[in-house]
Amino acid sequence: MPVGLGVGLQLRGLCKSFGGLAVAQDLNLDLPPGARTALIGPNGAGKSTLAQLITGCLVPDQGMVMLDGVDLAAVSQAARVKRGIAKTFQITTLFAGLSLRENLRLAVQEQRGQGARWFGRADRCPEVEEIIEFQLARFGLLGLADQMVGRLAYGQQRLVELALTLCLQPRVLVLDEPAAGVPMGEIPMIVEALEGLPKNLAVLLIDHDMDLVFRLAQHIVVMVAGTILAQGTPAEIATNATVQRLYLGEAFDA
Ligand SMILES: Nc1ncnc2c1ncn2[C@@H]1O[C@H](COP(=O)(O)OP(=O)(O)O)[C@@H](O)[C@H]1O
Ligand SMILES: [Mg+2]
Repeated sequence: MPVGLGVGLQLRGLCKSFGGLAVAQDLNLDLPPGARTALIGPNGAGKSTLAQLITGCLVPDQGMVMLDGVDLAAVSQAARVKRGIAKTFQITTLFAGLSLRENLRLAVQEQRGQGARWFGRADRCPEVEEIIEFQLARFGLLGLADQMVGRLAYGQQRLVELALTLCLQPRVLVLDEPAAGVPMGEIPMIVEALEGLPKNLAVLLIDHDMDLVFRLAQHIVVMVAGTILAQGTPAEIATNATVQRLYLGEAFDA
């Protein structure tokens, strides 16, 4: 894919080692606008490390993370968020004692450099309120907007974090195990929320739940020991003998 405007996120030759352990070995990946790519692989494969290299939480030993052809090496984690690279789920980023609406408002105003003004009623910006309203509605959370986040079910808290992230109007969203720890009964609402993500958003979904992966992904990347073992459409991955034998076990037997 050519380097230029509108090409989305590109990873080129990414390498990362922890001591002697190579967890990213010459990784190349494209996440164009609208991508629905899943990253799967056994524990320790390097999936979360890759997510952190994208967000800037970790610095690669070699290689590039590019957004629309621009190398992000010199762009801090916070500045990457402003450019539209977002990652969930980090439940601790929510304030349990504030309402949903207040949590979202705080995040947006902080992103806009208006952090100290969030509690001032008179300072509320109609444009910000509109964004918040829109995202709460997207996730069916409008009815809960004035509830304290700490009182919500765990799955709902994850939806709030998703709504919060989308308020920051990301272009690339990295989801590292969005359903982890969510009680079975609440998983359908997470799946529904992920299915309703904006069409233009580039999504990288890391998960072990093959139902979730096969439901959402248009492209699947299988990672093992810091390398990409295989990638392709869900149908190609489901019938890939090596992938089946080594990493997916019984997952496709049904
Ligand atoms: N900060 C770190 N320091 C040292 N080793 C790490 C660090 N982060 C991850 N690792 C190791 O790197 C490997 C890949 O981890 P990770 O990216 O979390 O894998 P995955 O998300 O696929 O389970 C693991 O062996 C893990 O123990
Ligand atoms: Mg992980």
